[in-house]
Order: sequence, then structure tokens, then C-alpha cells
Amino acid sequence: MDDLFLARALHVLAVVHWIGGVAMVTLVILPALRAFGADADRLALFERLEGRFSGQARVSVAVAGLSGFYLAWRLDLWARFARPEYWWMHAMVTVWALFAVVLFVAEPLFLHAWFHRRAARAPVASFARVQWAHRVLLTVATVTVLGAVAGSHGWMM
Ligand code: HEM
Repeated sequence: MDDLFLARALHVLAVVHWIGGVAMVTLVILPALRAFGADADRLALFERLEGRFSGQARVSVAVAGLSGFYLAWRLDLWARFARPEYWWMHAMVTVWALFAVVLFVAEPLFLHAWFHRRAARAPVASFARVQWAHRVLLTVATVTVLGAVAGSHGWMM
């Protein structure tokens, strides 16, 4: 039983760090940087801030995924994936998969270099687009957190 408490605590801690960081980047850092206009230092500052956070987020995404799959396996919750009222289980796996692909595959392979080139050429449009993408991800993650907390404590849609 203790392993379940530990897995749940680690799961929530990882989600708080990871999604909280996404909220910080989306709602505080990006709007502040955009207010600087097309300043050349802005791109370097953004890359330093985002780079520092994405290293940490990789750890949190890994912990959230491992603890989440462990909970699903220990509680034998696989049948939920066939039931639409457990949409928040699908949402958790979808959000996790999206971030895992961005952080572990797209960013190291091409996303970072692509954004750097694009932002050097068209800084205003690039920052607007990156903020839009962060807003979409944060909205989906927020709905998922709401659904997962309510759903895992008994709420049924
Ligand atoms: C591989 C991905 C994931 C898996 C397999 C997974 C699995 C689980 C499982 C099995 C539970 C316990 C459900 C229950 O007790 O009824 C849970 C709880 C939870 N998960 Fe996930 N999860 C994953 C990713 C995420 C993500 C990405 C988020 C947030 C965006 C998230 C947020 C939560 C929250 C807030 C809870 C409720 C904790 C509580 O109040 O006790 N999970 N997850």
C-alpha cells in the first residue's frame, strides 16, 4: 500500500513542477519578453530560460510517466481506457505523450534550431507563435489536471 502513496505523491509532485513551469513560461516569461519588442538579446534570454527549464521538465515528465503507468498497473485501471467517462485518463496520456515527443525528440533534433533561425529572421511573429503554442498546451494541461483530480476522487461525467 505504501508504494501507492509514494507513486501518487511523486506523480502529483512531478505534474506540479512540470505544468507549473509551463504556466510560468506561458503567463509570465513570454509576455514579459514580448514586451521588449524585437530586441536582439531577447532571443538569447528566452533560449537560456527555456533551455534551463526544459532540462528540468524532462526529469518531471519521466517521473510523471513512470509513476502514472505504475499506478495504472498496480490498480489495474486499464479497462478505464475503454470507457469515455474516464476521458481524463486519455487526456493524461495524451498530454504526457505530446510533451515527451517535444522534449525528448523534436527539441533536440530540430525544434530548437528551427525556432532559432525563424526568430532571428522574424522575431515578432515567431514569439507570437511560440506563445500561442504554449497557451494551447497550458489550456489542455489545465483541463487535464482538473479532470484528473476530480475524476480520481469519484467525479463522473
Ligand atoms: C503517462 C501518462 C500518465 C499516466 C499513465 C497517468 C496515470 C494516472 C493514474 C493511474 C492516476 C490515479 C487515478 C486514480 O487513482 O483513480 C493518476 C492521477 C493523476 N494524474 Fe496522471 N497519469 C499520466 C500523466 C498525467 C499528466 C500529464 C497529468 C497532468 C497534466 C496528470 C495529472 C494527474 C493528477 C492531477 C492526478 C490526480 C492525483 C490525485 O488527486 O490523487 N497525470 N494519473
